[in-house]
Amino acid sequence: MSEEKKLFKVTIDNITVEVEPGTTILQAARKIGGEVVPPAMCYYTSLKGSGGKCRTCLVRVAAGSTADPRPMPKLVASCRTNVMDGMVVESMTNPAVLDARKAVVEFLLINHPLDCPVCDQAGECDLQDLSYEHGREGTRYEFKRRTFERHDLGPYIQLHMTRCILCFRCVFAADQLTNKRQHGILDRGDHSEIATYIEKSLDNDFIGNVIDVCPVGALTDRTFRFKNRVWFTKPLDAHRDCPKCSGKVRLWMRGDEVLRVTARKDQWGEVEEYICNECRFEKKKASDWIIEGPTKVNRHSVISAGHYEGVVKPPEFLPEVMGGRKPKLVFDIHELSDVNRPEVDLSQLPGPATNKTFNGDPHSVGQNVTDVKIGIGPNEKGTDSTNPNTP
Ligand code: SF4
Ligand code: FES
Repeated sequence: MSEEKKLFKVTIDNITVEVEPGTTILQAARKIGGEVVPPAMCYYTSLKGSGGKCRTCLVRVAAGSTADPRPMPKLVASCRTNVMDGMVVESMTNPAVLDARKAVVEFLLINHPLDCPVCDQAGECDLQDLSYEHGREGTRYEFKRRTFERHDLGPYIQLHMTRCILCFRCVFAADQLTNKRQHGILDRGDHSEIATYIEKSLDNDFIGNVIDVCPVGALTDRTFRFKNRVWFTKPLDAHRDCPKCSGKVRLWMRGDEVLRVTARKDQWGEVEEYICNECRFEKKKASDWIIEGPTKVNRHSVISAGHYEGVVKPPEFLPEVMGGRKPKLVFDIHELSDVNRPEVDLSQLPGPATNKTFNGDPHSVGQNVTDVKIGIGPNEKGTDSTNPNTP
């Protein structure tokens, strides 16, 4: 007869939940869900060793356990602290925790360029969400922010080290998903940076997943960069028969075009099943995929803007007041709109579309403003920062 496992009772923000021994406070909070769950920028459930780097998940342990109910002397990282039976934790209910989170966000933003208007991650950036929900309005930092040149890491990925928050997720992902990790964090302290060993390109079969696990816009998909804002695209769940991975993906469509392919993420923003480079970068036609249906997008996300699933439309009164007549159309917006022009294939263009692309030259592409190389263009140092304090 199998022995019944003893569960630990843990109370987080006055809500008690039973979890298995070895569960972290963060995972216990996720079991409860809602506001109680601390934010996490470096922890990633499926990446072994992740967590403990960013300190955004700080909570207060008001009572260590039933056996030893003393509080813990300092705030602890909930992603790295295991629960004990009878533990009492304060997350949203303790002002000191909220204050510490604000300080952590301020710290993470010290070197971050705040270039959301031109960043491909805008709209699905964990740091953007974190600073809205837990950050301060201003910064007290008066020094120059550190900036880096951009690096193309192989044919598919671009690194914007200026935006990196050194969470280590991409390093763990490369270590655990690919045969050979070729990048890591070099140097120490405020000199630390993500770098490849002698600029080796990252071309391993599963390396594209570093883009999905990166919580900010430091690692971006070169096949999607500047093609569209994420909230203008429609996410669809789709799959294909892939010999390398599960083939279960999310397609980001604009009209009939597949602009981007990513792995599917769960409610915590973590990848459900990692996908291979072929699915991610080379299958950019709707006909390559079996479409399952629209992705359920959290209303909280900006990506849900313009997606009106399940919404009840208000009744139309215009025909009623016009005695049954329909209003006369001045013009049909779809005839004039540049979206869905059959001759313009945004997903096939090697760069961003320009005015020319839509006016007779469907293959012409512009230059990404942040791809300006050193000494050319408005940003002399070649950095991508739009912060006036940076060179
Ligand atoms: S590049 Fe992204 S995933 Fe990698 S350490 Fe920096 S922020 Fe984290
Ligand atoms: S998520 Fe816990 S320290 Fe980063």
